[in-house]
Amino acid sequence: MIAIGSDHAGYHLKESIKKHLDKKGIQYKDFGCHSEERAEYASYAEKVANAVSSGEYEKGLLFCGTGIGMSIAANKVKGIRAVVCSECYSAIMSRRHNDANILALGGRVVGVDLAAMIVDMWLDTPFEGGRHKARVDMISEIEGKNIQKGC
Ligand code: RB5
Repeated sequence: MIAIGSDHAGYHLKESIKKHLDKKGIQYKDFGCHSEERAEYASYAEKVANAVSSGEYEKGLLFCGTGIGMSIAANKVKGIRAVVCSECYSAIMSRRHNDANILALGGRVVGVDLAAMIVDMWLDTPFEGGRHKARVDMISEIEGKNIQKGC
């Protein structure tokens, strides 16, 4: 099950990707926003990131104007590895090597068809583990140290 969310600038792309996921029979929950009225990206990033971090949702998709604000905000939540991708190579590698658990896309950056392709590749690509697991573990250690410091 996928958690998804957007602000107003990502709303149209989110709606297109929802139709794409429906066609593929992929289940998701939309955490908002629910129209093109102005909405603050950080609050939707937080909802989706918490849903993924808790383990209730396997992965998350976030949409804003660029994908950048969403990814920065989502990465503040423990256990989240959010990436912004505007092409397929990075999307695939973010799964293979970085075990990314949230993909952020820019509604003002990528077209609907490219976004659908990026989402498909990202969802379908497994984490390679091995030496990459040790590297991802190092990221978690940094996170753990900063949580201890109360950052
Ligand atoms: C909204 O104008 C825009 O700043 C937002 O959607 C996002 O691109 C921020 O990173």
